[in-house]
Amino acid sequence: MTTNHVPIIRTVAEVRNQITDWKNQGFTIALVPTMGALHRAHLSLVDIAAQHADKVIVSIFVNPTQFAPQEDFDRYPKDEKADAESLSTTQTALIYAPLDSEMYPSPSLTSLSVASLSEGLCSNSRPHFFGGVSLVVTKLFMQVQPDIAVFGEKDFQQLQIIRQLVRDLDIPVDIVSGPTVREDDGLAMSSRNKYLQPDERLVAGQLNKILRKTARSVIDGAPIDETLLDAEKRLIMAGFDKVDYLELRASETLLPITRLTQEARLLVAVHIGKTRLLDNCPVVQ
Ligand code: PAJ
Repeated sequence: MTTNHVPIIRTVAEVRNQITDWKNQGFTIALVPTMGALHRAHLSLVDIAAQHADKVIVSIFVNPTQFAPQEDFDRYPKDEKADAESLSTTQTALIYAPLDSEMYPSPSLTSLSVASLSEGLCSNSRPHFFGGVSLVVTKLFMQVQPDIAVFGEKDFQQLQIIRQLVRDLDIPVDIVSGPTVREDDGLAMSSRNKYLQPDERLVAGQLNKILRKTARSVIDGAPIDETLLDAEKRLIMAGFDKVDYLELRASETLLPITRLTQEARLLVAVHIGKTRLLDNCPVVQ
């Protein structure tokens, strides 16, 4: 495996200088926003980015505005050295890892909210979340001014909100999505999987299996409400502590649907021990 040393920069001024230089040389730029604790799924987004642009920038920033006070901001896994090492095996040209004081020199008074798409699902238990994500992603887009940016389908509501944000604000960035990358048993990779105890990790492998079975039943014509209720029971029986939501939504608008007349998505969030896990899967006839 070839490795390359990836420079890390920390300020908006440095990132802008580098981008101007690259753009003057005719290079196109891709941004992959992350919160670090990088795993194979993040690296897959870098590979996708490299297929679409000449220079790939990975941002690493654990964004405080998307965490509520009681959430895991302080214990969110951070290991910049390991992240830089992982990225050295990819085509990353630059790591942009601003400090909190660079990203938020003073508390931001501007708020962004994407109506409808950010209602329900993850917002029910994390009402502040998409405001924080929208703010930091918009700031990253203004700072880096990439031609494209890559986001994972694993965070499907986030992906659709960012697509809408970019459309609504005429931000000249093409949003490209990457498929969910999974462990062998189907568990979607996540930086938070590190929190799982061994017995919880076993249970976690059931999430995608139950989700896919549920999608299959819906595609085969089973009544939607009953099928979803039944799946919630199965999740609890499998050992999850709580189902935050399990819903069938229209893929584009994320509006609730009661019949399969358009492309749909099953979206789920569950709790196991102290960890919250997300997953989703397409429901296409
Ligand atoms: P983070 O959780 O670090 O995820 C960074 C990117 O990796 C997101 O686009 C996410 O959807 C993607 N990703 C994570 N796990 C994945 C998987 N198993 N398969 C495919 N893609 C996956 O999402 C965030 O950070 C933040 O909210 C951010 C957008 C950076 C704003 O702070």
